[in-house]
Amino acid sequence: MSLQIGDTAPDFTAETTQGTLRFHEWIDGSWCVFFSHPKNFTPVCTTELGYTAKLKPDFDQRGVKVIGLSCDAVDNHHKWSQDIEETQGTALNFPVIADADRKVSDLYDMIHPNANDTFTVRSVYVIGPDKKVKLMLTYPASTGRNFDELLRVIDSLQLTSNYSVATPVNWKDGEPCIIVPSITDEQAKDKFPAGWETVKPYLRITPQPNKVGQSESRSA
Ligand code: BEZ
Repeated sequence: MSLQIGDTAPDFTAETTQGTLRFHEWIDGSWCVFFSHPKNFTPVCTTELGYTAKLKPDFDQRGVKVIGLSCDAVDNHHKWSQDIEETQGTALNFPVIADADRKVSDLYDMIHPNANDTFTVRSVYVIGPDKKVKLMLTYPASTGRNFDELLRVIDSLQLTSNYSVATPVNWKDGEPCIIVPSITDEQAKDKFPAGWETVKPYLRITPQPNKVGQSESRSA
């Protein structure tokens, strides 16, 4: 059966541009973005990898390790990385798995034979520090992904794993959140001292809990 949200991300050992690694050991209690792209020396992939490298400070700030994969050999990855640096202005700063035998792609269902039986599609797995899959995305080869959206989702995942909130449509870090329905109003009094607005009994809006008081203390 294919991998689903909440499953443990399968472990593997693989050769990468930064040497051989064992996946679970490498994650080492961090969050992880694991993404595949169809092929080296292709235009959309070149822009995706360059942009992801540019986002390193944003991933670091959130405690996220990034790792890519394509079904090419490691020497080929190294050659392509020179093009990425030259054309995108940033050198690769995260490992890229060389999955020439498709062992890892098969494990993660990254090859969709009805799209292409050789190349991986654009899959993304966000994996938590508990090694569980928190999010899965699949894009076709022709559409580059929005890596800013991945940062937004990670902000939501990290927030909702620590507080009894969910995040509404198009939410961005710092914006109001929704109190999860399983929390009663009585419990919410303790958990959300900044209060909330009851739009409907099931739709209660509260300031983002980990930002409450920050603007006041900055201006004090
Ligand atoms: C690309 O990355 O540009 C690409 C890869 C495979 C098919 C189409 C586009």
